Amino acid sequence: MGANGESFSKLYGRNIVMIGINIEEIYQSALKRKRTLASYTEWNDLYPVEQMILSKEISHADSIIEFGCGAGRIFNYLYYTLNCKDYVGLDISREMLKVAKKKYPIGNFKYADVASKELPIEKHFSKILFMHNGIDTIYPKERRVTVFRNARLFMANGGQLIYSTHILKESPESVICSGEHKYFEEDYHGAKIWIHRSTEFEAVEEAIANGFTIISKYVQDKGTDSWLYLVVMNDVSS
Ligand SMILES: C[S@@+](CC[C@H](N)C(=O)[O-])C[C@H]1O[C@@H](n2cnc3c(N)ncnc32)[C@H](O)[C@@H]1O
Repeated sequence: MGANGESFSKLYGRNIVMIGINIEEIYQSALKRKRTLASYTEWNDLYPVEQMILSKEISHADSIIEFGCGAGRIFNYLYYTLNCKDYVGLDISREMLKVAKKKYPIGNFKYADVASKELPIEKHFSKILFMHNGIDTIYPKERRVTVFRNARLFMANGGQLIYSTHILKESPESVICSGEHKYFEEDYHGAKIWIHRSTEFEAVEEAIANGFTIISKYVQDKGTDSWLYLVVMNDVSS
C-alpha cells in the first residue's frame, strides 16, 4: 500500500484487501438484509432540510424522476404533500422496489441502474432527485460520473438536479479505498459498506466539473456527520 493506504490502515486499524471485491454487491446485500429493509419500510418522514428544499424547489407541475427511490419515502411527500403526479422512481434494489410498490401501489417505480449508460427513460424531466446520499454508494468513481451524465441527459431545459452527498471532515490525505480517493468504509444498518465522501469545496467542484451550475447548497449536521444538499442545473455553456 502507498502513503494513502497507510493512513487508511491507521484510521481503521487494519489493512483492506481491495482487489476483487465487488463493492456494489456488498452494498446490495446490505440492502437485502431484513434490518435494512425494515428501517426503510417503517420510515416515512423527511428531514426538515429535505422538506425545506423540496417544498421550495418543486411544484405540482414538475415532471420528476427520482434516482435511487428506495422504498418510496420521497415519493410519499411529493405525491401526498406537494401533489406531484408526474413521477417515476428508479432503483437498483429489487427488494426496495418491492417495498415501495407495496407501500405505494399508485407510484411508478422501476428497476434501473442509474449509473448505466442506458436508462429506461423516454422523456426529459424538470426535476431529477437523488436523495439521502444515494449517489455516494455508487462505485467506482467512473460510475458516479455516469450518474451526473445521465442527470444532464434527461434534464429538461431549465430543469434541476437535487441531491445530497456526505461531507468529509477528516483531512483528504487520510482517505483511501482501493487506491481510489474518497471512499470510506462505514457502518450501514450493521453492515460494512463503502461510501464516497468529499469536502464541501470538492463536492461543489465536482458538480461544476460534471457540467452543472450551482443554484443553492445547504449543509445538514447529523451528529458528528454532515451532509451537503446541492441544487444544480445544466451549465449551458459547457
Ligand atoms: C440511502 S437509500 C435512499 C432511498 C430514498 N432515496 C430515500 O431517500 O429514502 C439509496 C437508494 O439508492 C439505490 N441505489 C444505489 N445505487 C443505485 C444505482 N446504481 N441505481 C439505482 N439505484 C441505486 C439503493 O438501492 C437505495 O434504495
